[in-house]
Amino acid sequence: MKTVRLGADELAPAIEALARGELVAFPTETVYGLGAHGLKASAVSRIFAVKGRPQDNPLILHVLDQEGLERLASPGGVNRWALSLTEAFWPGPLTVVVPAASEVPREVTAGLTTVAVRAPSHPIARALIAGIAAPIAAPSANLSGRPSPTAFSAAWEDLAGRVPYIIDGGRCEVGVESTVVDCTTSPVTILRPGGISVEMVASVVGEVQFPRPGGPARSPGMKYRHYAPQKELIWLVAADSGSLAQARRGVLSPYGRAAVIAPDGVSVPEGWPAYSLGPDEASAARELFEAIRQMDQTDADVIVVMWASERGLGRAWLVNTTTDRKSVV
Ligand code: TXA
Ligand code: MG
Repeated sequence: MKTVRLGADELAPAIEALARGELVAFPTETVYGLGAHGLKASAVSRIFAVKGRPQDNPLILHVLDQEGLERLASPGGVNRWALSLTEAFWPGPLTVVVPAASEVPREVTAGLTTVAVRAPSHPIARALIAGIAAPIAAPSANLSGRPSPTAFSAAWEDLAGRVPYIIDGGRCEVGVESTVVDCTTSPVTILRPGGISVEMVASVVGEVQFPRPGGPARSPGMKYRHYAPQKELIWLVAADSGSLAQARRGVLSPYGRAAVIAPDGVSVPEGWPAYSLGPDEASAARELFEAIRQMDQTDADVIVVMWASERGLGRAWLVNTTTDRKSVV
């Protein structure tokens, strides 16, 4: 299939394609999404085929606002938690799980009785949803098992030749996926940490809980390996040059050269590839997927990520970077 790159001001062909049941990759403020008309079962099925995504991993439906959420939830399904969370964080990187209306195709929910819904803030994503006047089902626009794309080039690398259109919206602002909150439990359950921190969710709903380790996978997606580079990845919960020097004598000593992904100011040994995460948490979240993709293509023996915090966005990253070749030190 020939894939056409569309600019931000040429969305008409993408809207027509979505309305016909074809797939379009597009930018959101979190990561690029691989979109299909969310109420057409055959269109949604194509997402699984193109990504190589397991059939039992449900999708997020993207809407414009709370009204869009109400239409996808069963009558009375949008409870006070779902209302107050979406009031506080929409449009933005928050997904709520609510009881599903009967019109939601089972291809979207993977047979669950609930549906995950998010209102993105990115103007291109919003124009597409408004353009087809329906929700858009979209997982991240990577092939299954690859890091999520936060740049047009990354979406193109994975999906060119597999979809008719990829829209170029430049780099994604947030860079980590949405926080998924199950509002059907009491208290709410944070199924996937993401762009809205656990602390922010708790500030709105009070108490929160996490899925029990070893319990049933409440968010089916979390049991699959994602964000996986080919190289081994070592996560240092630190952000200073001294810690890197210490790691070089310790955990990194069995390796030759490391590709270092670190905030500004960390000095990297000569000859080692490096990628800067910038000055703060927000820039780090925005850069990390791209950094992992690029450092994976170097000839270094191992990737080192340096991130000092296990809270906020750091937590989202630490939990989600679940390659089986990762160690955290
Ligand atoms: O930021 C994002 O959320 C991006 C952009 C494109 O919006 N999308 C995204 O989609 O990350 P995906 O498919 O990579 O992740 C969706 C997550 C998966 O972990 C999935 O299992 C979970 O949401 N999920 C979807 N529906 C669910 C449901 N009904 N109950 C529990 N978890 C659900
Ligand atoms: Mg994904």
